[in-house]
Amino acid sequence: MAEREWILLNPGPANTSPSVREALVMPDLCHREPECFEMMRRCRDGVVRLAGAGSDWAAVLFTGSGTAAVEATICAAVPASRTLLVIDNGVYGDRMLKIARAHGIDVVTVQCDIFTPVRPADVEAALIAHPEASHVAVVHHETTTGLLNPVAEIARVAERHGRRLVVDAMSSLFGEALDVTQDGIDFVTASANKCLQGIPGVSFVLARRRALDALAGRAPRSVYLDLHGHYVSQERDNTPFTPAVQVLHAMERALAELADEGLARRIARYADNARVLRAGMARLGFEALGTPAGRSNILTTFRLPPGIGYDALHDAMKRRGYIIYAGQGDIRTYAFRVSNMGTLTPKDMNGVVAAFEEAIADLR
Ligand SMILES: Cc1ncc(COP(=O)(O)O)c(C=O)c1O
Repeated sequence: MAEREWILLNPGPANTSPSVREALVMPDLCHREPECFEMMRRCRDGVVRLAGAGSDWAAVLFTGSGTAAVEATICAAVPASRTLLVIDNGVYGDRMLKIARAHGIDVVTVQCDIFTPVRPADVEAALIAHPEASHVAVVHHETTTGLLNPVAEIARVAERHGRRLVVDAMSSLFGEALDVTQDGIDFVTASANKCLQGIPGVSFVLARRRALDALAGRAPRSVYLDLHGHYVSQERDNTPFTPAVQVLHAMERALAELADEGLARRIARYADNARVLRAGMARLGFEALGTPAGRSNILTTFRLPPGIGYDALHDAMKRRGYIIYAGQGDIRTYAFRVSNMGTLTPKDMNGVVAAFEEAIADLR
């Protein structure tokens, strides 16, 4: 199998290894046979173990993109009479807000600029002002711009005020340091196809068992995305619906590859990738947006060079085998994103910089 056709600089689905892709063509398997349930069990246990959590945590798998895990969590976590405090500094914070509203959940927000990590003091003030808020929902890595929210500090604030945290770590789990077991955190959502380096189609909720058990007996707000229903079923080595069997095969392989590489080394590789990219782009005159302190090691937003539009730059990079990613909403008019997750290495990132140099020369 060819190593790669494109170098994917979009923040997931990311480049995968040939053996992850080959795992998709395992022999056919009935999803109600023990072999499938054993595979699901290995995937669930692998997520818990590699995230550094213990037996008081469980992973619940969903067939669906990352939003499935986020929606399942939000519509399960907040009791009927309570409110969700959503930290909104990007598209994915905003999405959590929309999900809550779609399910009739009362929401309050702490909003800030898309390049500004939320201030824990503002979260604290909101929790004091809103005693009805039972949970805080925060995106760890806002993929809108590549900013990191200070999850550890927010968890401390939530814990101090007796509230629980829901963390969307979709584009950061296994790519940035994150102590999911920290007091205050109950639910963490992510998917197979980002820093885990698997295939799209499966997402998961990593949760404290105590928080999952507390959902028993509550009327679910969703049938397909009933977190407690999936948890109970998967704990019994069963599944309420048909899972994406082949994607799970690939996820199991991706988990094995993460164990082989080691979490600390993967995080360090991504950080090296980001360093090479940012230094190279700075040499070419590209401005990275946002403050260095608030930036992840996974994605960088660069200002478009004067006189060059996103589409022209995208096409010039694509001709060279590189897929860059547009900014969301009006960001598209002045900036673009480059992610460095997946199987990419610092050597690949040198190639990315060289391709930008050529592309710019072409377009000027
Ligand atoms: C932080 C974050 N949350 C949620 C999602 C939604 O994931 P999906 O598009 O897989 O539903 C993404 C996707 O990029 C994301 O980056």
